[in-house]
Amino acid sequence: MPVRLNRYLASTGVGSRRAADEVIRAGRVTVNGAAAELGTLVSEADDVRVDGRPVQVQAAMVVLLHKPAGVVTTVRDPQGRPTVVDFVPAPVRLFPVGRLDRDTTGLLLLTNDGALADRLMHPRHGVRKTYVARVAADPGEPVLERLRRGVELDDGPTAPAGVRLAGPGRVEITIHEGRNRQVRRMLAAVGHPVRALHRSAYAGLELGDLGPGEWRELTDAEVEALRDA
Ligand code: URA
Repeated sequence: MPVRLNRYLASTGVGSRRAADEVIRAGRVTVNGAAAELGTLVSEADDVRVDGRPVQVQAAMVVLLHKPAGVVTTVRDPQGRPTVVDFVPAPVRLFPVGRLDRDTTGLLLLTNDGALADRLMHPRHGVRKTYVARVAADPGEPVLERLRRGVELDDGPTAPAGVRLAGPGRVEITIHEGRNRQVRRMLAAVGHPVRALHRSAYAGLELGDLGPGEWRELTDAEVEALRDA
């Protein structure tokens, strides 16, 4: 069955559909020898090439990484800083699912399956992410309640969140949005700037015994569960 070119490219490890659109727009893709356009439809029978090289549909690989602090969530950093993909030597090209700030630690998925990454990142699917933030002083119950109900940020109010005190100076926040620096901004907005931030869970997955910099491949059953998430 013919599919849109960006969807097809996403299954070959080029990246998410949006990343694939950029590659198409840049004129780097040909279909049966002709320059491809955004809406081009393709099937297995077509000769699809990026930069002149034929692409191939790849088996999906999903890796769970315990991201250390000081590492950037990108595939390549123009400033030469260590990136999350440096930690995972893999036979296929992996890219991160979403983003953690450079100084945020914790659970990050990497995959070559652009369609799965798109699904997980799409706001409609509301994937749950749990963070533990270290703050200087324990917020009182009224502050926790404000965070639960939603706080006003410069790009609009946050959706209801799960919030509890997880220990002295530790606030656990579960959100299903994925705005830029959201947890840091939420806590700053209620007067409790974040000193350190860690993601402990994502889409029902947890880090288990993995230490910073360690990773494991998800099992087929875990990948299936993510597809249904
Ligand atoms: N919220 C943040 O503020 N930072 C992250 O890295 C992730 C969520």
